[in-house]
Amino acid sequence: MSAAIIDGKAFAEGLRARVAAEAAAFEAAAGRKAGLAVVLVGEDPASEVYVRSKGRQTLACGMASFEHKLPANASEDLLLGLIAQLNGDPAVDGILVQLPLPPHMEEARVIAAIDPDKDVDGFTVASAGRLATGLDGFVPCTPLGCLMLLKNQLGDLSGLDAVVVGRSNIVGKPMAQLLLRESCTVTIAHSRTRDLPAVVRRADIVIAAVGRAGMIKADWIKPGATVIDVGINRIPATDGGKMRLVGDVDFAGVSEVAGAITPVPGGVGPMTIAVLLRNTLLAAQRNAKVPVTEDALA
Ligand code: GUN
Repeated sequence: MSAAIIDGKAFAEGLRARVAAEAAAFEAAAGRKAGLAVVLVGEDPASEVYVRSKGRQTLACGMASFEHKLPANASEDLLLGLIAQLNGDPAVDGILVQLPLPPHMEEARVIAAIDPDKDVDGFTVASAGRLATGLDGFVPCTPLGCLMLLKNQLGDLSGLDAVVVGRSNIVGKPMAQLLLRESCTVTIAHSRTRDLPAVVRRADIVIAAVGRAGMIKADWIKPGATVIDVGINRIPATDGGKMRLVGDVDFAGVSEVAGAITPVPGGVGPMTIAVLLRNTLLAAQRNAKVPVTEDALA
């Protein structure tokens, strides 16, 4: 193994500690805690685990957590009514509606109901437009977490060739915008890209966000490149035991070639909630019109 391992778990712990310090300062200045509301519809087990974890980490950072659970058969109007109530609640700085929603709800309409000034997930059209045009707004948590790890590892990214594999609204597209903002030369590759290995081989920075276990191989990687693996794939263990968590990158092979690489688990995964808490604190500072401490939370 030659690659440096990028320790996302340790970075996320550090970020959460900085959020906690700023959250205490916020409470002293504003006379109330910063608050995050999380809405879960239905009983998807993975979503329940995430929501519980978000609630626990929100409290651990000294912020208020408001959890709202609706049954799987709740009407979309009920959910929209709840979002309207949270939009108007001065104790709520950030609103997160856990995805996926049940099939009878239209995700785009639900997300559009969230006040962009409380959109700590960065999923609204307003947030995407603000990111694309360089205005202040909220950036989706996973890609922003990837960018933080990259800047911590490499410093200035300007002029580097970055290839983002995957074009989702939640990761691929905002990731490309963030890298462009850092003056990278950005390519978005996807399932229809011709000769994907050759495209990836050009990259100084590879972001893998396709959801296919071990797809990106060692001979696709330029020696010394930095590889960020967003994939979380559950595959059967080789010994027939429990399921095993693997990324989109063939870690064993790629870590012989890359300069630095995020592991799965322990790389990008822990960053998502840490960035969510950071976004919530920034929302609180903006909403309460106290000084915004974005630099302390980079
Ligand atoms: N489902 C899986 N990841 C996420 C996320 O980051 N935000 C929301 N709202 N739902 C998710």
